[in-house]
Amino acid sequence: MLQTLSKFLKKGQSMIQAYGNKQSIISFIWRFSKPYRGKFCCLLSVAFIWAAEMSIRPYTLKVLLDRLAIPSSEGSSLLPSLFWPALGYLGCEVMINLMFRFYDYIRMFIYPSLQIDIIRETTTYVHGHSHNFFINRLGGNIANQIKELATGIKEILQITINRFFSHILGVLIACSAVLCIRPILALIVLLWIAFFIIATVYLSKKTQKVSKNTSRARNQTVGKITDSIMNILTVRLFARHGYEASRLEEQLSEQVYWDKKLEWTNLKIRAIQGTSILAMMALLLAALIHARMQGLVTIGDFGLILTIGISISAAIQNISQDLLIFSELVGKCNVSLHLLETPHEIANKPHAQPLTVSIGEISFEQVSFGYRKDEPLFQKISIKIEGGEKVGLAGFSGAGKSTFVHLIMRLYELQQGRITIDSQPIHEVLQESLRDKISLIPQEPLLFHRSIKDNILYGCPGASEEKYIEACQKAHALEFIQALPQGADTIVGERGIRLSGGQKQRVAIARAFLKNAPILILDEATSSLDSASECEVQRNLEELMQNKTVLIIAHRLSTFRSVNRILVFKSGTIIEDGSHQQLLALQGHYSNLWNIHLGPSRQAHTSDRF
Ligand SMILES: Nc1ncnc2c1ncn2[C@@H]1O[C@H](COP(=O)(O)OP(=O)(O)O)[C@@H](O)[C@H]1O
Ligand SMILES: [Mg+2]
Repeated sequence: MLQTLSKFLKKGQSMIQAYGNKQSIISFIWRFSKPYRGKFCCLLSVAFIWAAEMSIRPYTLKVLLDRLAIPSSEGSSLLPSLFWPALGYLGCEVMINLMFRFYDYIRMFIYPSLQIDIIRETTTYVHGHSHNFFINRLGGNIANQIKELATGIKEILQITINRFFSHILGVLIACSAVLCIRPILALIVLLWIAFFIIATVYLSKKTQKVSKNTSRARNQTVGKITDSIMNILTVRLFARHGYEASRLEEQLSEQVYWDKKLEWTNLKIRAIQGTSILAMMALLLAALIHARMQGLVTIGDFGLILTIGISISAAIQNISQDLLIFSELVGKCNVSLHLLETPHEIANKPHAQPLTVSIGEISFEQVSFGYRKDEPLFQKISIKIEGGEKVGLAGFSGAGKSTFVHLIMRLYELQQGRITIDSQPIHEVLQESLRDKISLIPQEPLLFHRSIKDNILYGCPGASEEKYIEACQKAHALEFIQALPQGADTIVGERGIRLSGGQKQRVAIARAFLKNAPILILDEATSSLDSASECEVQRNLEELMQNKTVLIIAHRLSTFRSVNRILVFKSGTIIEDGSHQQLLALQGHYSNLWNIHLGPSRQAHTSDRF
């Protein structure tokens, strides 16, 4: 027995360790429950009344039975003596119903707002994470984790208050009641409770293993379905519906296997629990009959102890089932809490000031950076881009051009050196103000699943109608927007799927016109367009570039028409720096790139096309 108990204690310890951050869940709940603590006290009082009712109602029944058992010769005076216990019994029923509704009423003022508080604060915190954080995680996963945290915390609180608190308290009160009447019967009940808990913990070990495999199989099924739906076009183009169905079938058979195994394990546990309850009730009944025959208990005590025994067994069974749900919830919330425990990689310095841009001069001073500490990409780069300069960045794919501009926006933290804009180090200014002063148009503009107008106004949410129309005109976007069935209110679809590449680019340019930031970065902004569209978009961009410091990354070197300086990147190093003519004269890396760009048939021509 002692051995089993010590095993049980060890099991409890390891469960707490497995929860790991249990402490942080408790402090998280404590922090968020602050505005609702008075209301939680009301819920606890209701739970206390439920717990007491578990013994009070059987007690009124006991009094009724005892009075009914009085010999019939005194029958004439029986009715008045039954009145109060009968009223008490019915009163319990009325009170418990009222308490249920009161509980629901208070709940209404806690959980909906508490969930919103959690979602609001978690989402705001998650928004502050670095670019790197999101690159390594799927957006849908993060959103799901925030939702799971909010619902998980609500369920943990509900289980704790109206299940654990009320049931444990109810069992304690009930055991004390039995102890007062017949201590030996209380001992039977207590021993059974101990046995039941130990057996449940032992059996749940088996369930955990099976349920882990079951949830893995379920996740794999969802993953496979998602994969085939995401790639539905490929499935269709190769006519592989049958193949996909057979792949899924294998997965489904595995899931059915584990689902059945879990059901079977649970069935066995419930059967063992049910048998143990039956054994306890049989023992209790035998002991009660024996005590009654000895005249040690009244008829009322008989009924009271039997009813309490039934209530205790139901409560303990519920607690054991809730424990499993509770540990699952704690596990899920811990995964989500990780989002909050991860500190922001890039944070504003205390008392950071907003960036002020006068001419837009960008300076890299001895900058070193690598995505991984042991793999440096840039090593001690120093370069200055004058205010108002139009600079092209050239080089093969993977040379570090995008990284260079991302560092200017402080999407990543430098390992060494500093970057300044108009002599203000970017790591010392407010991040929001830095990004407010830079417009970046990427190769594939990312559009929200909102209307075209909302997407354009994102550049300056409070802009007037005139400003909006002007931006659309300058970006040559107005014609196509007006031709759409719902005009500017047309929803662009997820990531702008309902627009063509050129249309998306124009939306992005209109957005940049509205933002009108003093520094403009084009990261292969036109490389997904055909040559005719590129020419047209280029013309739109030239207007946008006026009076700004501009960095243009492009594969097609013809895009560099409007730049007066070109930086050539190779494996994270700037190997050439000069105008188009100067670089061609060098006969180096740029001139190679230029020849590749022209193609063999045109290499004979000179560079005067630029
Ligand atoms: N988020 C990232 N994590 C790790 N490595 C990256 C990441 N982004 C880019 N890289 C690597 O850094 C190098 C430079 O990439 P990038 O700046 O995108 O080049 P370019 O824009 O010139 O094609 C490449 O080797 C690329 O694989
Ligand atoms: Mg790039």
